[in-house]
Amino acid sequence: MRVPVIAGNWKMYLTPEEGRDMVVALGPLLAACRGREIVVCPPFTALATVATGLVGSNVRLGAQNMHAAPEGAFTGEIAAGMLKALGCAYVILGHSERRQHFCETDAMVAEKTRAALAADLIPIICVGETLIQRENGITQPVVEIQVRGALTGLPPEQLRRVIIAYEPVWAIGTGRTASATDAQNGCAFIRSVVRALDTGAADLVRILYGGSVKPENVQELMNGTDIDGALVGGASLKADSFARIVRYEEQ
Ligand code: 13P
Repeated sequence: MRVPVIAGNWKMYLTPEEGRDMVVALGPLLAACRGREIVVCPPFTALATVATGLVGSNVRLGAQNMHAAPEGAFTGEIAAGMLKALGCAYVILGHSERRQHFCETDAMVAEKTRAALAADLIPIICVGETLIQRENGITQPVVEIQVRGALTGLPPEQLRRVIIAYEPVWAIGTGRTASATDAQNGCAFIRSVVRALDTGAADLVRILYGGSVKPENVQELMNGTDIDGALVGGASLKADSFARIVRYEEQ
């Protein structure tokens, strides 16, 4: 039985105060919510204030990126241990915006995945095809290379802890959600790739869908048998809409 995960990726939005206010408003809306992991991933600058706003809540903290080294002369970067010290339990890795704008490669995502797990952070590894790749019919090979690139060689006990987010690039921030069938097929394919790496891990690894998830479409997406949750961008910035997504079965 895989516990569903609903994670909010705030991207480069919300100041420290706005972030804290958001989670203070979110807490009571989700206080009675059981049976899922709820995560918010603010920008680095808001992690500390959001952590104070989350005290006593069932919502957990994640970051949006990290460097693979434990420390060092890497101006502008943040290490896994620093995130852990601020109360993070999760970290998003390899988001398509990082691959596209900051030249992140599968090799970098693999290195960060290992460093995150070594620091006891749960990596949320993002994969997904661009519109051109989809139109050229190469979605599956692209996604397979990304999944294998991040996970190959991980010891079985570590592989089981990772979360994978299938985020078709063309569905991110566009309002163009993948159909429930496409989302399910994408997540099922990812599970088959994990199965080829480690049979036992395939039924344990949580696979999320991301890309224009909203209160109106989350329930249909969550019906997919291989969809174990959602990675939500824009609709995670407001307490009310994020809470409605987390409580998807009440829609
Ligand atoms: P949107 O929900 O705004 O499309 O963003 C998805 C995303 O990139 C989450 O990581």
